[in-house]
Amino acid sequence: MTLMEPAADRKRHGKHYTPLDLADFLATRTLSRLGASDRLTILDPACGDGELLLAAHRAAVALELDAELELVGYDLDPIAVTIARERAAAAGVPVQIEQADFLTASRNLGAHAVDAVITNPPYVRTQQLGQEFAQKLASEFGLQGRVDLTHPFVAIMPKILRPGGILGLLCSNRFMTTKAGVNVRRILQTDLTPVEVFDLGDTRLFDAAVLPAIVIAANERDTGGLDCPFSSAYEKSEAVPHAGLSLFSALVAETDSTVSHDGRAIAVKVGRLAHSSTPTDPWRLAHASGDTWLSSIESATWKTFGDIAKIRVGIKTTADAVFIGKNWESRSPQPEAELLLPLITHDDVAAWRVGEMKSMKVLYPYDLRKPKRTLVDMREYPGAMSYLESHAERLKGRKYVIEGGRQWYEIWVPQRPADWAAPKIVFPDISVAAQFALDESGAIVNGDCYWISVTDIGSQELALLMLAVANSSLGQRYYDEVCGNKLYAGRRRWMTQYVARLPLPFPDSDATRDLVAAARELVRCADPEPGLLRTVDTLVEAAFAAGEGSAPPPSEGTLF
Ligand SMILES: C[S@@+](CC[C@H](N)C(=O)[O-])C[C@H]1O[C@@H](n2cnc3c(N)ncnc32)[C@H](O)[C@@H]1O
Repeated sequence: MTLMEPAADRKRHGKHYTPLDLADFLATRTLSRLGASDRLTILDPACGDGELLLAAHRAAVALELDAELELVGYDLDPIAVTIARERAAAAGVPVQIEQADFLTASRNLGAHAVDAVITNPPYVRTQQLGQEFAQKLASEFGLQGRVDLTHPFVAIMPKILRPGGILGLLCSNRFMTTKAGVNVRRILQTDLTPVEVFDLGDTRLFDAAVLPAIVIAANERDTGGLDCPFSSAYEKSEAVPHAGLSLFSALVAETDSTVSHDGRAIAVKVGRLAHSSTPTDPWRLAHASGDTWLSSIESATWKTFGDIAKIRVGIKTTADAVFIGKNWESRSPQPEAELLLPLITHDDVAAWRVGEMKSMKVLYPYDLRKPKRTLVDMREYPGAMSYLESHAERLKGRKYVIEGGRQWYEIWVPQRPADWAAPKIVFPDISVAAQFALDESGAIVNGDCYWISVTDIGSQELALLMLAVANSSLGQRYYDEVCGNKLYAGRRRWMTQYVARLPLPFPDSDATRDLVAAARELVRCADPEPGLLRTVDTLVEAAFAAGEGSAPPPSEGTLF
């Protein structure tokens, strides 16, 4: 950040300015794709303090582009516009910067008038945009699902770039893998053609809560599907190398490397954007060794987690301070104990077992015998009702609950009340290593975890096999190969769409049977035999190596 302003304001307008070295990298990758021309028009539609326009000028000089540059910028923020103009004047770089909302101003730009766009567009989520504005953007720009302010900026690009013109886009890497990211993936892979992709992971190249990515794309249609260089950079917990490539050189090198950056070891993986013909597929870095391994596992896969059962998120109250807590006895008025139910949160879950629960309870006003959400008769719970009334202002402020035809004192996503009693697999949404546990306590699961009901799975043995694969080294490698991105400090986000892809080996091999027995021991005893975890790793490998039909015929019938 170069301007001093409150964090809330930054969030609302998506202002996180690009640091110089990253701006230079983005500008160089973008401009080096432009062919010879007498004149080049380069646009930053949300230019902030002008760093990307200045970087474009530096890159044009460094690349010895023999062209007259027309650098054009827009920004909503008048202070940023003034600063950008002053910085450009001080650097002797001619620019035209207009204070305007680019989403409106772009209508006056000629079609296909621009040779290159270099942009770090505002990143503002639907919650901050407001539902109404998000819907307006969706219909105007043909977007779907949860719209982010980045989406309309990207949607405009094919209209304003000349044929063959280049987009250099710096944005959150989330679009590559999330459902909502389909808006950006669709434009980038259907209207444009990606020519280089960089997932900058937790390199901290960028001072924002989001992890950044760069996509360089050409304004041309390539019907051949995705296939371009793709590199990723994530911190690795190992000794920092003393010498070697800089991070930016490693990102464009031919082979993988580990580099030192800001005193940390960063693993740079170099491959290609995995081929996909539909934007609903997430973007994945494909590389030779990983691809061979993945296809060997896939050919030994019986079913995936998603084939077996639905993966559900835990409850979402949208007013946790009212519904969730530890010391209910100190609250007044006091809700009745029958409605205060044990709650599993991410703090309680370890691999295999839910640990000692931290006495967190949720006020859950639903009938636990009913498969569908059914409120209890609150007249029978006067304590709980007075407690909820004492928080009425806060709870009634959740307009979407009331507009959804619900009572103002309801939990937003309570899930199916009758399912809690059955055993379930539970795992936290974010953790460094896999933490899939079997819970047999009947507790409710909080929204910071996911769960899979053993009733849906259909057999406890199969649930144990799922735990064994998910918690194994093979499971983790598979997850990393298909998902490919992490959060800061090596933490993984266990997203349902990737957990659903985790593979299960064919059930009728000796290795699978032994694996289920080992998993049973691991979920039952707090202090399992040392070495059992290594045994699980070995057995998971063996179960997949056994493959289809290569195992001896089952002695006691098929396992599931
Ligand atoms: C992420 S910052 C990027 C600034 C600059 N391009 C950089 O990389 O340093 C996004 C910028 O978008 C601006 N902005 C937000 N909404 C805008 C809009 N509708 N039209 C133009 N600029 C907008 C903000 O004021 C902010 O300066």
